[in-house]
Amino acid sequence: MRKNIVAGNWKMNLDYEQGVSLFSEIVNMVKDEVVGSQEVVVCSPAIHLSSIAKLSSGVNNVHIGAQNIHEAESGAYTGEISASQVKSVGANHVILGHSERRAFFKETDALLAEKVNAALKHQLTPIFCIGETKEERESGRFFDVIKTQLEAGLFHLSATDFERVVLAYEPVWAIGTGLTASPEQAQEVHAFIRKTVAEQYGEAIAEDTSILYGGSCNPSNAQNLFSQKDIDGGLIGGASLKSRDFLDIAKVFNA
Ligand code: 13P
Repeated sequence: MRKNIVAGNWKMNLDYEQGVSLFSEIVNMVKDEVVGSQEVVVCSPAIHLSSIAKLSSGVNNVHIGAQNIHEAESGAYTGEISASQVKSVGANHVILGHSERRAFFKETDALLAEKVNAALKHQLTPIFCIGETKEERESGRFFDVIKTQLEAGLFHLSATDFERVVLAYEPVWAIGTGLTASPEQAQEVHAFIRKTVAEQYGEAIAEDTSILYGGSCNPSNAQNLFSQKDIDGGLIGGASLKSRDFLDIAKVFNA
């Protein structure tokens, strides 16, 4: 069964105290207000993970994740964090392929494929991001771009491994810009992603794959986006830094 997921990406925000305090609020609000089967995931900076893991332990619809891992098992990679280290603090998700990592840290599809392997090996669920830039949308090449990102980053996986991946469509032009994709624009791409997955892994796996939308998602537009047939939740940046907004987005799936 396809899961509905609302995931927050805190990016490089919040000092230690602020993060722990925001996460406590989120956990309490989820306990009081979330009544559906949706999952709430918070992807924090690495410094918060071990503390927030303790706060979420035993709360079965709240999960935590990292925003990146290194592809190697361990070793001389100063400043990096491995999948097993992330797993060891109690996190069970990791965002991979975010457009900010692709753009600012030059992460290629081939590197991301290795990171996906490392995540799966250590029982982390990759939230794998794909999406086109403004130029790629305007030139009409966006379907090709998205297909290549899927093929090169993920389609080396066996069907059993692919079933453990969550996808997130994040049009780069909509991230942090206030320019949300319209529900119709987003649905069009989500349907294309599902069709591409079906061609590779078959209809049943495609139907079970959760595909989240990300890019200026907020409490005012979440309902319209999430009511689209192929949109199974959101990956939320700015609005995940405010507990009230984040919960209001998560509660769209209460209905
Ligand atoms: P915003 O919600 O701030 O546009 O960020 C989206 C995002 O990049 C989530 O990963």
